[in-house]
Amino acid sequence: MAAARRKLIVVANRPPVSYGRDADGQRVERRGQGGLVTALRPLIAHHDVTWVASAMSDEDRLVAAEAGGGAIDGLGRTGELYRLRLVAHEHSAFERFYKQFANPVLWFIQHYLWNLADEPSFDGRLYEAWESYVEVNDGFAAAVVEQLAEEPDAAVWFHDYHLYLAPAVVRRAQPDATLSHFVHIPWPAPDYWTALPDAMRRAIHGSLLANDVVGFHTARWRDNFLDCAARLLGAEVEPESGTVEHDGRRTLVTACPISVDTAEFDELATSEEVLERERELVRARPEQLVIRVDRTDPAKNIVRGFRAFELYLERHPESCGRVTMLALLDPSRQDIPQYAAYRREIEAVVQHVNNRFGRGEWQPIVVEIRDDFPKSVAAYKQYDVLLANSIYDGMNLVAKEAPLVNTRDGVLILSENAGVDIELREWALTVNPFDIAGQADALHEALSLAPADRRRRADAIRDHVREHDIEAWLATQLADLDRVSALASS
Ligand code: F6P
Repeated sequence: MAAARRKLIVVANRPPVSYGRDADGQRVERRGQGGLVTALRPLIAHHDVTWVASAMSDEDRLVAAEAGGGAIDGLGRTGELYRLRLVAHEHSAFERFYKQFANPVLWFIQHYLWNLADEPSFDGRLYEAWESYVEVNDGFAAAVVEQLAEEPDAAVWFHDYHLYLAPAVVRRAQPDATLSHFVHIPWPAPDYWTALPDAMRRAIHGSLLANDVVGFHTARWRDNFLDCAARLLGAEVEPESGTVEHDGRRTLVTACPISVDTAEFDELATSEEVLERERELVRARPEQLVIRVDRTDPAKNIVRGFRAFELYLERHPESCGRVTMLALLDPSRQDIPQYAAYRREIEAVVQHVNNRFGRGEWQPIVVEIRDDFPKSVAAYKQYDVLLANSIYDGMNLVAKEAPLVNTRDGVLILSENAGVDIELREWALTVNPFDIAGQADALHEALSLAPADRRRRADAIRDHVREHDIEAWLATQLADLDRVSALASS
């Protein structure tokens, strides 16, 4: 990593590890879930990191209580030391924060998922959920301020939509602290934000601008944020330099696409867990295999993907029995009604397509709804076509992870609304996520490409991801922090 070792306070809702008990009642540590945790793991290896996160399990709460609210020592994947500070929020406030505001309100607005004829409706319940969002953010801010008292020279790095309000609170307590915030999901255009009451959208945008740096994956999301700052707050925006003046402060707004830890995937691809699942896959594989790997999230556009496969089979009946779609879906946010309903929709469409086209042993769609990451990596190695057709996506790391370890010169079909599209569109087949017929055509094209063309595209994607890996992204983020720290002290 290019940047020198530095002190960082990383603030993210999910911790890098979560605690539980094994069958003998002994405390055990489990790897934290989610792409963000994976992406930030190399940071621990190279820098002096304190990670501030929500206590997720009952055991996490016990650990937090035993630490008296302070930080405990943790060990990274390859034995590096870091500190973990778990914030035990009031239980019902945390439930409302996570299940009623961060997801679905903010997630839905930022992925353009609302059907505005019906939702959102800001009744008493949503105002109460907002109050809980404020409360949890205040809890995070208090933990950061305490941590800064112990590590005054540390830079604070907030992540994601759970924590939009914390920077303003930290800034009031520590006017000279270096604060940065990375938003891992899309930023919609100002008109869509107007579905949120004025006070809420002002609080969110105003607090983000209490940071020295606000980062996005692509210029598309960054430019929307700049437009929002001007339109919704009346802030002074300089689009060329990406700076915003608001409330007497200047914030640098950047765009840099996150990537993957290529060494981790190389290691995983040859691990026994993955090889075992790969052997099973190979034994059962059809002539051509289309895969998708996603959380069961409406933003991932899983139902339209299956309908596109249905249309492909209808138009190319000769593919029946020869091409299978394997969907490995991680059940996500299942106690949020919209997510539970989306899972039912997924199951219904799969049943419909399989009833319509299945024959004998062959089922056109095979779905596994469970968390089995080694199985996903095995499928990454074996696909002929990877479908990543998100409605909107901040980045979509599957589109970077899978080509890295694929062994069959698989073709990538990519949504034009995924952040990763800007980097990989030259070598992928681009689709409009709403255009089911277009996706059916893309499936046909991908499954019929000449071997040399497939190889050229697959090699180019792999080379691109290897060159622009997670280390490069982290180095850019830290260089931006150095730039604003230098400006502040000059
Ligand atoms: O950036 C989006 C994100 O926070 C990812 O880090 C993560 O993979 C995903 O959402 C998971 O969300 P949750 O914490 O709700 O499971």
